Amino acid sequence: MKNKVTINDIAKLAGVSKTTVSMVFNNKDQNISKETREKILQIAKELNYIPNSIARSLVTNKSYSIGVILPDITNPFFSEIVRAIEDEANRLGYNIVVCNTDNDVKKEEQYVRMLISKLIDGIIFIASGHSKKALDLIKHKNIPFVLVDRSIKAYEEHYGVFCKNKEGVIKGIEYLYSLGKRKIVFVRGPEYLDTAYQRFVGYKYIMKQLGLFSNQLVFKGDFTLEGGKVVTEQIITTLKDFDAIFFSNDIMAIGGIKVLLRKGYKIPDDVSVVGFDNVKYAEFIEPELTTIAQPIYEMGSTACKLLVNILNGVEVENKKVYFEPTLIVRATTERTSCTTSK
Ligand code: HPA
Repeated sequence: MKNKVTINDIAKLAGVSKTTVSMVFNNKDQNISKETREKILQIAKELNYIPNSIARSLVTNKSYSIGVILPDITNPFFSEIVRAIEDEANRLGYNIVVCNTDNDVKKEEQYVRMLISKLIDGIIFIASGHSKKALDLIKHKNIPFVLVDRSIKAYEEHYGVFCKNKEGVIKGIEYLYSLGKRKIVFVRGPEYLDTAYQRFVGYKYIMKQLGLFSNQLVFKGDFTLEGGKVVTEQIITTLKDFDAIFFSNDIMAIGGIKVLLRKGYKIPDDVSVVGFDNVKYAEFIEPELTTIAQPIYEMGSTACKLLVNILNGVEVENKKVYFEPTLIVRATTERTSCTTSK
């Protein structure tokens, strides 16, 4: 038999029409006898037949594929989210197509065009930045989409899954304050990202409330491991007096801890460190990282369920879902700690 088996081959062997075979593979076989259906499936199995999903999409107008656009697959926060989306999508009968934009809105637009051309059913969108053009394009093509993690000004009322970033930072600072820390440095993420901005707003608010805010305690980071190292070197050289660093995501904290340890700082005795996200690595590094946890897996699976509900025309009560962050105490703030959440 030739390599490429077609429904024609199956139809001939089964002694039925091509249309009958096609109906079986497209689950439109209500009027086909059980015997014929089983015969067709048996022959397909013997021939190792793999249906042409592109042809099927052209007929049904559905690809059972969801595009996932994300800014940085090397950040475990995003890879853990994708993992959850994939699990949920598979459970619901969908595949995913992952597009990594490197935080580049141009690349993001190209990926949107590619996904549309592949007849994607819907998109889970973690924005690279302002992202309005890419979203306008998706909207113009009537493709359902759900925002995750980063909200976008022009689409504030759109479906989305987020975490209460501001509240999370407030929890973390109040905890550091309760440990007696007063000179708490904050490492921001990129200013143009809503997630980073909300975290900074939380810091500024609570530090002002506590009478501790000073611009000199605020440093700019870029949400990467490398960026965490660079900013920590800056902190060490510019500030003589600080007793804690709150990095606004975990991977910057991991980069920063490396520098602190190499420069001889004792964590947490000389300086306490807190991150944000609670990626898996946070509990595997030494010392284990105290952090503000987002329910990452739940956020990914919720986004996927929400999108599939929209695709199926199911009435959705909550267009926007906000998860509550929790404080996870580990060894970068309490020497004898085993993990506790507050
Ligand atoms: N960027 C990087 N890390 C993050 C983000 C983000 O937007 N959100 C949560 N962790």
